[in-house]
Amino acid sequence: MLNPIRLLLLGPPGAGKGTQTLKLLKQFPNLKTVSSGDILRQHIRNGTRIGTLASQYIKQGKLVPDELITKLVFKHLSTLNDSWILDGYPRTLTQAQNLSQFLTPLDRDINLVVELAVPESVIISRIEERWVHPASGRTYNDTYNKPKVAGLDDITSEPLVKRSDDNKLAMQNRLEEYRATTSPLKQYYKDKGILTTISGDSSDVIFPILLDTILEKSREA
Ligand code: AP5
Repeated sequence: MLNPIRLLLLGPPGAGKGTQTLKLLKQFPNLKTVSSGDILRQHIRNGTRIGTLASQYIKQGKLVPDELITKLVFKHLSTLNDSWILDGYPRTLTQAQNLSQFLTPLDRDINLVVELAVPESVIISRIEERWVHPASGRTYNDTYNKPKVAGLDDITSEPLVKRSDDNKLAMQNRLEEYRATTSPLKQYYKDKGILTTISGDSSDVIFPILLDTILEKSREA
């Protein structure tokens, strides 16, 4: 019997958390995912009060307040079964502690944390090349994952745009936020014995290792 996988993907902006998550979902169709960034962007698209508030932080590349994101993520997590991937939450030590308090009584705490370590030079060029289809959240990349027709979404043929936080200034802030918050977070999961780091600058390198790490975890006695 395979163990449930409750995976947190950590990594700087543009490390490929969303991309790796999509690849894992193809491999494990029963796995569910919660992406804090996607939840916030959905609120922004829908013009909700939360979306209006969150967009002020996001476009500057700053983290939204812990309480706001925690409430949103817990609402999604409580609808999921045993195995899931978290992308983008927790991002601060406070969020990690809150999450553990929420999941431990349910006997469902995170059991694997994988940090994607990708050089900053690679990350910056990826973000410069990223385009999104705002209505669906589909992402493209000028070299890695090109749309069939330049500048247009493959499914709807609607125009692709840049994310509001994919600009130089916001990107600097996002990287700074990541550097500032990530050490205590990594230490927290290292102390729990569940942190693994995978280094590489392409998914050809990272994905097979990530897959092996997950399979190993799922077969652990
Ligand atoms: P979020 O959406 O989580 O953004 P992020 O962490 O900045 O991550 P990205 O979505 O930019 O990158 P990714 O690692 O998923 O990379 P991707 O796969 O797209 O958060 C956005 C904002 O919301 C935050 O700044 C914050 O304000 C707020 N927020 C979210 N969660 C929060 C929280 N917990 N607390 C407080 N605030 C929170 O890949 C990037 C690009 O590279 C793509 O174009 C892709 O096609 C390309 N690519 C991917 N892999 C490869 C590859 N192997 N080779 C070549 N290109 C590749």
